[in-house]
Amino acid sequence: MTARLNQWSMRPRVIVNCAMSADGKIASRERKQLRISSEEDMARVKELRLSVDAILVGVGTIIADDPHLTVKGRPKEEQPLRIVLDPNGRTPDDARVLNDWAPTVIVTTIDCRKRWQGANVLRTGEGRIGLRSVMANLEANNIKTLMVEGGGETIWSFFEAGLVDEFRVYIGPMVIGGKDAPTPVDGAGFAGTSPTKLRMIGSERLGEGVLLSYEVVRES
Ligand SMILES: NC(=O)c1ccc[n+]([C@@H]2O[C@H](COP(=O)([O-])OP(=O)(O)OC[C@H]3O[C@@H](n4cnc5c(N)ncnc54)[C@H](OP(=O)(O)O)[C@@H]3O)[C@@H](O)[C@H]2O)c1
Repeated sequence: MTARLNQWSMRPRVIVNCAMSADGKIASRERKQLRISSEEDMARVKELRLSVDAILVGVGTIIADDPHLTVKGRPKEEQPLRIVLDPNGRTPDDARVLNDWAPTVIVTTIDCRKRWQGANVLRTGEGRIGLRSVMANLEANNIKTLMVEGGGETIWSFFEAGLVDEFRVYIGPMVIGGKDAPTPVDGAGFAGTSPTKLRMIGSERLGEGVLLSYEVVRES
């Protein structure tokens, strides 16, 4: 497991990873999951999951895709912690992320009283979840590397909070189209001419698609 901490504060290193179509969409306009990754990319994602301490998604992904968020063929002790951001307690009781294949933490607000069998609950923030306090909590629990897998709203919230260290995007050979189809980074977006700047650290053909890897440039 990587033990490199972000330099400017004690928090886990954050790697955002997602797969998008050649026209920049991560699912269909009905928010239906599509197989965008190649076999080679899926193998890479498996390795990446095994190298991090925790995997995080938003509740929108739980509702849309019902993912397991586990690494197939690996025992429970080797699985990364699964984390769901769910301020309003919308994770269904029968969601696959609640199975006993790996530990799970659902992060919600102190106003949300919901409990789930199969998950520990972290209640933090009134009305909204403060990502920085979540990160401090993860750090305190020895989570040194965090992989954020989506969806677009969740990834945006990490970029908006300045918490992303690496951005890895696989571009699959398809066009999905649709102005309402989710993209890797949705949310409100940065205003005006102040985008988050990236430095490319890798590019690799994986099957019929390409993986682009970036690190976030920190403005001092
Ligand atoms: N291709 C890929 O790599 C990939 C990967 C993952 C997902 N997806 C796709 O992405 C789509 C889902 O994306 P999405 O943007 O709709 O949903 P999402 O990002 O998975 O979840 C968004 C929801 O999570 C909660 N949330 C996220 N960040 C939060 C924060 N910082 N603080 C508090 N709450 C937070 C909010 O819940 P509330 O609404 O309750 O406030 C928010 O509406 C699906 O279509 C899925 O198929 C694609």
